[in-house]
Amino acid sequence: MAQMQSDATRWRERALAVMPVGSSTNSKAPALLPEEPEVIVRGRGCRVWDDRGREFIDYRNALGPVTLGYADARVDAAIRAQLDDGILFGHPHPLETTTAELFCSLVPGAEAARFLKTGGEALAALIRIARAHTGHDRIVQIGYNGWLNSLAPGARVLPGATSAQVPGVPAALAELHHAVDWDDRETLDELFAAHGSQIALILVAADYPSVPGATDFYRHLRATADAHGALLGYDEMVTGFRVALGGMAEFTGVLPDLSVFGKGVANGMPLSVYCGRRDVLSVLDRGEVVVSSTYGGETLSLAAASATMSAMRDDGVIPHLHAAGARLQTGMNALFAAAGVELRLVGHPTCPQFVAEDERMLQTFLRAAFRHGLSFYRVVYVNAAHTDADIDETLQRVHAALAEVRT
Ligand SMILES: Cc1ncc(COP(=O)(O)O)c(C=O)c1O
Repeated sequence: MAQMQSDATRWRERALAVMPVGSSTNSKAPALLPEEPEVIVRGRGCRVWDDRGREFIDYRNALGPVTLGYADARVDAAIRAQLDDGILFGHPHPLETTTAELFCSLVPGAEAARFLKTGGEALAALIRIARAHTGHDRIVQIGYNGWLNSLAPGARVLPGATSAQVPGVPAALAELHHAVDWDDRETLDELFAAHGSQIALILVAADYPSVPGATDFYRHLRATADAHGALLGYDEMVTGFRVALGGMAEFTGVLPDLSVFGKGVANGMPLSVYCGRRDVLSVLDRGEVVVSSTYGGETLSLAAASATMSAMRDDGVIPHLHAAGARLQTGMNALFAAAGVELRLVGHPTCPQFVAEDERMLQTFLRAAFRHGLSFYRVVYVNAAHTDADIDETLQRVHAALAEVRT
C-alpha cells in the first residue's frame, strides 16, 4: 500500500506505457482525470478507495457484477473455504453440478446450464449452438454482446458505442451478422422478409433506458423467431440477477430458447452461464458442437456463484436493489430538475442510464461527482450494500456537485 501511495497519480501514464488503452477493459480506462480515480485499490460494501486514499460511494460495481457489495462476507467465506481444497481439477468437481442445479432452479427457461468465464465467450457459444440446431447461418443482434461477437457493420462494439466498420472481421463473416437497433421493428421485419429462412438466432440485450416498457418488443421478437424457425436468445449479462433473478425472461414473462448470464451470478468472480432448452443444448451432448474450456469448472468462481445466488434467493436482494435504485433515481432526477440541468436517469431502477441533451454536460457532472466522492458510470448500478443512509449521502453530494456544474 505504501508503495502504491508513493506512486500516486502516475498509474495512468505507467499503464498506457505498457498496455494498449491503459486497461484490459476499455470502459474502465479513466477519461475524466484528474477527478476520476486512476486506479482503485480497495472496496468494501458500496465504497471504494483509490491509491491516494480518496473514498467514493460507488455505482460502477465493476461495471455490473458486484451485486452484493465489495468484499461480501458470505461470498468471501465460500471462496476461502474452497481455496483450502484446490482451485481446478482434472475431473468435474461436485460444485459444477450443484451450481448448475441452483442456477436452473432460479432462472425461467433454464432446463440445463453450462459454465464459461466471460459473457462474450458464452454468447459466441450460443451463436454456434443456434446455428447447429437450426441449420441456419445468419444472426440478428440487438445491443452489445461482447467484443467477440461485434461482427456486423453498424453493431455495438462496446455497450455505449457503435462502429460502421469492423476492422479485423472478414467480410464473409460480417455479412452473416445483422445489427438491429432497439425496437426497430421495421428493419427486423425487412431482414426476416429478405433472409427469414436463413436466420438462426435473434440475440437481444436489453436497452437500459427501455427496460420498463420492454415486454411488447420481447413478444414481437418471440413471435418473429417462431414464425421463421429461428431461435430467440437473451443476453442477460446485465439484466440477469438484477432486474429480476431470472432477468428479462422473468421480468417480461417471455421465455427465450437460450440465454447467457454472467455479471450478477458470482459477485465479481469470473463466471458466465449459457443455458436454455435441453433439446437445443443437446447438440453438445451429441458432440455435433463442441464448446469446451479448461476453466469452465473452476471452483472458486463456482463457490462464489453458489453463495451469491443463495444470498440473492434468500435475503431479499432484488427487492433491495429495486428500492435503493428507485430512491437514488427519483432523488437524482429531482435534483437535476431543481438545478435546471438537462440530465436524467432513465430506465429500470436497478440499472438506469444517464440520458443527456448535451454529452458535455454529462461529462461536467461526472467530473464534479468524482470531486465529491461519487463514482458513477453511464449505467448506474446499486448493490445490496447501499443503505438508505448511503443513498441520502449520495444525494447530498449530488446536490453539492450540481452547484459546481451550474457555475
Ligand atoms: C449486455 C452485455 N453483453 C455482453 C457483455 C460481454 O461480457 P464480457 O465482458 O464478460 O465478455 C457485456 C459486458 O459489458 C454486456 O454488458
